[in-house]
Amino acid sequence: MNKAYVRGTFDPFTLKDLDILKEYLAKGYDFIAVLLIDGEKCEERRAMAGLLLTSPEIQLSEEAEGEEIVDERLDQGLLGKDFLSLSAEQVDYAVKHCLYVAELAKRTLSDYRYHHVSCVADLAAALAEHYGLPYYKGYAAGYLHDITKEWDKTYHKEYIAAKCPEYLEENEKKYHQYSARIFAKENLRITDEDILDAIGNHVNGTSEKLLSKIVFCSDKIDDSRGFDNTEIKALCFEDLPKAYEVIKERQRQHLLKKGIVHE
Ligand SMILES: [Fe+2]
Ligand SMILES: [Fe+2]
Repeated sequence: MNKAYVRGTFDPFTLKDLDILKEYLAKGYDFIAVLLIDGEKCEERRAMAGLLLTSPEIQLSEEAEGEEIVDERLDQGLLGKDFLSLSAEQVDYAVKHCLYVAELAKRTLSDYRYHHVSCVADLAAALAEHYGLPYYKGYAAGYLHDITKEWDKTYHKEYIAAKCPEYLEENEKKYHQYSARIFAKENLRITDEDILDAIGNHVNGTSEKLLSKIVFCSDKIDDSRGFDNTEIKALCFEDLPKAYEVIKERQRQHLLKKGIVHE
């Protein structure tokens, strides 16, 4: 049997890594062992790799047998500004374990906006947990709600025209709630309907779903906003429906003043 092995951090192991190892199988190896270097997130990296290594020819292993594969194309982790190098199952695992989502937001957004989304994520995750939803749902929706907000204006308009032309006539400042939802679904492979709904309604605040209300509120009162949010934050934890009404009315006044909505 012609065996080989590859050693790496694989943070995470991606579809690209899998394709490259398949090339080596085609070159004549019968079995390739994938050895993960110990360290941070070892258990999570192992689980992520395991989701892709489902064939008997390429397997996670502890044993270095045969020839070592050294290929600089391997073990690059996530490079782009999407999750297309992950499978839907891997994304599901990553989202549920609060992995790679913050990293993606950091790579995509300016420092200023990254600070905002991280504050929203912290608050939304705490509120989600407080109201009986999984922590990760608030965390993911918080980090991703503004993921398309800094897109180039012309490109953004074209994207809306192509993907959801029914919103083209709305104020451009609202585009990002629609594009972020579509982008999260198509390019980030997010399938969780609560998270998608929360992203897709964070400006309008028109959804009745609990997570969507939590993210709507968190986005308007997070710690990066520069006002004393002590009272309204406390109200969110005490009585979310009441806080939601207060914040929604404040937001309506704000949008009216800026001309983003009209009476
Ligand atoms: Fe936003
Ligand atoms: Fe925001």
